[in-house]
Amino acid sequence: MQGLDPTKLPRHVAIIMDGNGRWARARGLPRTAGHKAGVERVRDVVRAAREFGLEYVTLYAFSSENWSRPKEEVSDLMRLLKLFIRRDLDELHSENVRIRVIGCRETVQSDIRALLDEAEERTRRNTGPNLQIAFNYGARDEIVRAAQKIAKEVAEGRLSPDAVTEERIEAALDTAGIPDPDLVIRTSGEQRLSNFLLWQAAYAELVFVPCLWPDFDRAQLRAALEEYGRRDRRFGAVSPPGLAVGS
Ligand code: IPE
Ligand code: IPE
Ligand code: MG
Repeated sequence: MQGLDPTKLPRHVAIIMDGNGRWARARGLPRTAGHKAGVERVRDVVRAAREFGLEYVTLYAFSSENWSRPKEEVSDLMRLLKLFIRRDLDELHSENVRIRVIGCRETVQSDIRALLDEAEERTRRNTGPNLQIAFNYGARDEIVRAAQKIAKEVAEGRLSPDAVTEERIEAALDTAGIPDPDLVIRTSGEQRLSNFLLWQAAYAELVFVPCLWPDFDRAQLRAALEEYGRRDRRFGAVSPPGLAVGS
């Protein structure tokens, strides 16, 4: 296989891992089996992302809306998250991966919170690829929490209303210090963001792939990166000469 053009690689890829339930249903299996197969994919895709030279990968693991699923499914998902961190933290750490968790930490059960804190703490000084796990994450909730932080500073007289800039808001989000995603991939054929990185994905390229998450592999990731490489990002300006349609 030919190498990917490093000048056309996204710096940050965010993935909405969707379709575990449908994958299981197609096989006559319980939804949990789909989630379990999904975790195996996480391992492979994180490895492939590293090999492709991606600097930042963010994975949507559990949304603030996913609590509305049946209790047994929620607890299976929690169990799998714990299993993933316990099983993979050593390897990720030894590969110099820095892990960050985005989402609301306060409302999750204490053993999970401890594991998430441990994953961040142990890998804090790593200088290799960055893996963000979006857990109990909802973009609106994140923006509300950021607005509350800023409002508090203004109310206490530590910040003037004029100093509430885009940069100040970015710094109050869970993703502070992490560059915006260049590419958002969603599996399973659904074409929506489902409350994922609404602020940060303002100019992201979106790639929707029909394959269900437990079938998403290295070749699928490569194809999405190639698709990204063919996009013409404009950020509101005009296309560079030669790239404009009809020029
Ligand atoms: C994604 O797969 C996993 C999570 C949302 C946690 P789904 O469980 O949403 O699978 P479908 O969409 O029902 O097929
Ligand atoms: C989005 O998938 C959340 C995650 C992948 C964690 P959902 O399956 O929850 O999204 P909807 O309900 O189809 O929008
Ligand atoms: Mg889904």
